[in-house]
Amino acid sequence: EAAEKGGYEHFMLKEIYEQPKAIRDTLTGRISKDNTEVVYEELNWTPDDVASINRVLITACGTAYHAGLVAKYYIEQLARIPVEVDIASEYRYRNPLTDKNTLAIVISQSGETSDTLAALKEAKRLGARTLAITNVVGSSISREADQVIYTWAGPEIAVASTKAYTTQLVALLLLAVYLGQLNGKLDSGLAQRILTDLHKLPTLCHEIFEGVDDIKSFARNYGFREDAFFLGRSIDYAVAMEGSLKLKEISYIHAEAYAGGELKHGTLALIEEGVPVIGLATQEDVREKMMSNIKEVKARDAVVIGVGVDGDTELAKYVDHTIFVPKADKYTVPILAVIPLQLLAYYAAITRGADVDKPRNLAKSVTVE
Ligand code: AGP
Repeated sequence: EAAEKGGYEHFMLKEIYEQPKAIRDTLTGRISKDNTEVVYEELNWTPDDVASINRVLITACGTAYHAGLVAKYYIEQLARIPVEVDIASEYRYRNPLTDKNTLAIVISQSGETSDTLAALKEAKRLGARTLAITNVVGSSISREADQVIYTWAGPEIAVASTKAYTTQLVALLLLAVYLGQLNGKLDSGLAQRILTDLHKLPTLCHEIFEGVDDIKSFARNYGFREDAFFLGRSIDYAVAMEGSLKLKEISYIHAEAYAGGELKHGTLALIEEGVPVIGLATQEDVREKMMSNIKEVKARDAVVIGVGVDGDTELAKYVDHTIFVPKADKYTVPILAVIPLQLLAYYAAITRGADVDKPRNLAKSVTVE
């Protein structure tokens, strides 16, 4: 097993550090040489195929569900098709409004999650066109779906999903651009910018790894707290949910993610002196609103770790600590912003002596309902 960990103490850490390569593998062969077009040979859809889709349904569980939440922003913004995201175990029991004009996407690292498989079967039964985004070739979900996009992240052993998630985001961003190009809703300049930026992601991941010592020290300082809050708006809200899940599943710290605007509707009551709040502020269009949420929790003496983009000196003024991620556009920055949160969860779990790769009560792949 030590050999398989390749010198890392845990599979989770190894898999976090494998993200640059995993992302590169997800991208390989899927962008035209001049960065203007997505090439999804496995789909090979025509404009007519896409024109017949009047809504997208995404179902998944856990981290894969969080990837679906980010994909809702991607697809709605870039292809202007309405997207509904549902937890697979909820979808299957709600007599859903799915039909032949629905593109049903299921996301699953393992391709074996029983609720996701059942949701896929239900969407298919209702006549939807089905597409699986999975990491495991030949998995049950890959066999059941009409079409498959593989993430090519390589084997993920740790229970906490890391590289599977970031590669799902990459595959989903490519898909959003692909749909937007085929239905003519996506500006070609924006498409080119996104596709060019995607190529930069592996290098930018390495820049984040250079800041790992700061993350370790935050984890040491706050790892013994009982609660933590993650705040974000827009795509950052989805990233906050993933950061919160990561922290709770491996460190057993109670964590909750909130949309910044929801704070005043209840959660603010829980913010008191010393409570760690991780505030994500990578999304330019909601930045001012997010800053005011950060000020609100600061005013209640929370300890705020702000996650922002390089050069955001304004953010640094209002928080106790900052984690900067490299500058990237609003669609690719969430793929980077989650990495410090993965590392924070990892080092918090280490601080608490938890079994990082095999957290209590959890299995890598949930094949029972
Ligand atoms: C992630 O860290 C979790 N262990 C879990 O939420 C996982 O993402 C979920 O069980 C879905 O698994 P799948 O992607 O293999 O379907």
